[in-house]
Amino acid sequence: MDVLQAIKERRSINYFEPGKEISDGKIKELLETANLAPSSFNLQPWKVIVVREPKRKEVLKKCAFDQPKVEEASAVLIIIADPKGVEENRERMFDSWQKLGYMKPEMRDMYKGMTDNLYGTPDSLNRKFFAVKNAALFAMNLMIAAKGLGLETHPMDGFDSECVKKEFNIPADKIIPMLIAVGNLKSGITLLPRAFRRDIGEFVSFEAY
Ligand SMILES: Cc1cc2nc3c(=O)[nH]c(=O)nc-3n(C[C@H](O)[C@H](O)[C@H](O)COP(=O)(O)O)c2cc1C
Repeated sequence: MDVLQAIKERRSINYFEPGKEISDGKIKELLETANLAPSSFNLQPWKVIVVREPKRKEVLKKCAFDQPKVEEASAVLIIIADPKGVEENRERMFDSWQKLGYMKPEMRDMYKGMTDNLYGTPDSLNRKFFAVKNAALFAMNLMIAAKGLGLETHPMDGFDSECVKKEFNIPADKIIPMLIAVGNLKSGITLLPRAFRRDIGEFVSFEAY
């Protein structure tokens, strides 16, 4: 599917075909494609929990204010933003840049200092912004990739974060920007037309605010 078509046709699907399984291969392809998302200093501060087992979906549904799509979708992905992604991924990222010729070994300390300055300490607000914005880019990439793979999605922030953390053993310092339901549109369902979008003239200006 053409990328413009995927963007234009992506919708948040409320009704998934229940009982439709999604294979390991398809989930892998979806996640590997999404993983090509850009990120700050290529630090990729995201983690994902794939929830496919009916019993686990039931638990997640309870944390998500009983939204039926959590149970009906083939899989629900818990998207996790990791403020510690800087420390976790920085050295091997620099190794890769060095090996591929993006940077010389003597630039390593300078880049390290730049990431410290830009993204602050692991518990800072800055670091939370860093983690969430990058995880959100991953999430958007995943929703577009899903269209290309013949799948539908639905992002959700209607859930109790503490409940999800507790039930899925997610450490307290992580942030969950959204859940994404993935699957196929329930047969016989016709979507309502896409709701209004603001005219771009309302929010775009040129050269200054
Ligand atoms: C971060 C995020 C969280 C959302 N949370 C929910 C949710 O919890 N429940 C829900 O029904 N829709 C949720 N939505 C879906 C939006 O309502 C939907 O994207 C919007 O109405 C535009 O529709 P479209 O995606 O079909 O273009 C969410 C969307 C985003 C991006």
